[in-house]
Amino acid sequence: MRFVLLGPPGAGKGTQAQILAKDLGLPQIATGDILRAALKEQTPLGKKAESYMNAGQLVPNEVVVGIIAERLKGADCREGFILDGFPRSVPQAEALDEILTQLGIRLDAVLSMSIDEKAVVERLAGRRICRSCQASYHVVFYPAEQENVCDKCGGELYQRDDDREETILNRLKVYADSTAPLIDYYSRKGLLQEVDGQGEISDITKALKAALGVG
Ligand code: AP5
Ligand code: MG
Repeated sequence: MRFVLLGPPGAGKGTQAQILAKDLGLPQIATGDILRAALKEQTPLGKKAESYMNAGQLVPNEVVVGIIAERLKGADCREGFILDGFPRSVPQAEALDEILTQLGIRLDAVLSMSIDEKAVVERLAGRRICRSCQASYHVVFYPAEQENVCDKCGGELYQRDDDREETILNRLKVYADSTAPLIDYYSRKGLLQEVDGQGEISDITKALKAALGVG
């Protein structure tokens, strides 16, 4: 199964991709996670991406498209994958279409997760991320068992630099301008399914699985 999780910042793409990856045995491919790992290692890719990410702007297409083209060739993607945070503009979606055509495969679904702006700010302001494995938590809604320690790997939890209110508002604007047009793009291809991103995490997982026909 090959699908995309689409949605504004804080919609719960990473949270749900993490759960679905485990339940369905598929790799979670999150461009944001890949870029943050590169930034942490201060690789040339990380250095190039840093200023865009901290400003809440999209990293240039050639950078992210290159990452995805390489990643989808991985042996672990043969049975399927979950794209989390890619594509996020029409040119990226067109580039993905080309990559998939070259690989002789197609997307099965695009799941669009909706959430209102107030909830986004509340979610992102309380989010904590593991420095080692990138697992995502929330101080109130999804706390780690031990404060600031990752349940999964014992790594240290931290707050993302772009989870400050001013940057969050910019990311929402970028979503509205560049990413939301993908709702139409994938509707026209008959791939889009809308899922409410608000409610209990486990209920949203159920709704996503139902949309995928694996519930
Ligand atoms: P990226 O890392 O993809 O960030 P984003 O799209 O802004 O999305 P988030 O990760 O903030 O939200 P999410 O939907 O994953 O929510 P989460 O599950 O964590 O991208 C970061 C930056 O990298 C971009 O700004 C850009 O610069 C660059 N980039 C990445 N991809 C790119 C691309 N393709 N092209 C160009 N540039 C790119 O949940 C949020 C919080 O809410 C968590 O604390 C969670 O615990 C909590 N939560 C989740 N679900 C619920 C629920 N149901 N109820 C209550 N709380 C919940
Ligand atoms: Mg995410």
